[in-house]
Amino acid sequence: MLDAASSEDDLSYSVYQNTCQDVEGIIYNKVKEWVKKDPTLAPSLIRLHFHDCAVRGCDASILLDHSGSERSANVSKSLRGFEVINDIKAELEKKCPKTVSCADILTTAARDATVLAGGPFWTIPFGRKDGRVSLAKETATVPVGRESITTLIEFFQSKGLNVLDLVVLSGAHTIGRSTCESVQYRLYDYKGTKKPDPSINPLYLNYLRRKCRWASENVYLDAITARTFDVQYYLNLKKNMGLLSTDQLLYSDSRTKPIADALSFESSLFSNQFSVSMVKLANILDVRSSLRLKRMGIIVGRTTLFKIRDNDLFCEAPEASASVSKLSMKYESLRCLIRISSEVTGFPVAPICSISGNQWWRWLRSRRHGLVPTMVVP
Ligand code: HEM
Repeated sequence: MLDAASSEDDLSYSVYQNTCQDVEGIIYNKVKEWVKKDPTLAPSLIRLHFHDCAVRGCDASILLDHSGSERSANVSKSLRGFEVINDIKAELEKKCPKTVSCADILTTAARDATVLAGGPFWTIPFGRKDGRVSLAKETATVPVGRESITTLIEFFQSKGLNVLDLVVLSGAHTIGRSTCESVQYRLYDYKGTKKPDPSINPLYLNYLRRKCRWASENVYLDAITARTFDVQYYLNLKKNMGLLSTDQLLYSDSRTKPIADALSFESSLFSNQFSVSMVKLANILDVRSSLRLKRMGIIVGRTTLFKIRDNDLFCEAPEASASVSKLSMKYESLRCLIRISSEVTGFPVAPICSISGNQWWRWLRSRRHGLVPTMVVP
């Protein structure tokens, strides 16, 4: 692993330009080779990247294999794809020794796995640092599929991701599988009722009961097109065929249902927004960087998210008055456009403020954190 030096370094598209020119080609060829042999590795690589970024940001801490590490936690039990990352790392060490971080490898492998499964391509800025701290107890908040939508929203918000990102990234469940252990509680004795989860489609319930006789068996997350990266996952939710309770709940909660609905109609919306949300996921800060930003008067995570649209910086502040006034105090040139987005989107009130002018944009961009081109809530 490369050393976790300062996390101030910016992510950039040219990090390996002179030091490891063909880094993306090398990673792609390896991922392709592995996925060709075993197509089930494509979803596993995507999930591995998510679990990495979900704890201390995308720092490859999920790869550290010692007692008490994230990898040893219960939620990591069914993670796969470690051998692919090791193989890529070994190849890169031969071609460009001590240059490419494992966190960048994980990020790129997840993107390539998406493409190989028929999903979209997106470009990746590089320069993530590998962390040295990996603690099983810090995985306690990583979702396991039994959470409420509020808990999921809060978890995503704590990482700088919003409701749209939640619904779109859950769409990764359009491929891949789950152990039956994660869903058996829905099939026989849901919440101590001795009955199945009433929200499961009866035909689908029969199918699941047949498939999931043993906890150690696997079942596809998308029963209809298990290996294709498409919008079938969202169509399944409409038919009460979400495998995880957290999948199905996306279609019953008023904050997430309109988004799931829209994505089910429009596959290009899903592809485009999936790319955008994956870039955001891959740029998650670690806690220390967030604290640094806070010291600079910028609140990330729960309160403020920054986005670029065209050449303008946007911040979306669910708790508007507090953070907007803080920003205004600090930067007098802040122009604010408070819009009650719930009028348009049905989301909870999410004022949007825009800071115009290249200066702020450049200044903040140089900080890189959370700044990724993304779709701004209308
Ligand atoms: C929204 C909260 C999420 C929950 C509650 C959740 C939960 C789960 C669970 C329980 C499994 C099956 C684990 C097992 O084998 O028992 C799973 C699999 C998977 N998850 Fe998620 N997940 C979430 C978000 C995500 C995100 C954001 C991504 C990626 C962007 C993702 C990608 C995947 C993939 C691809 C699989 C299949 C893995 C394989 O086939 O090896 N999940 N998830």
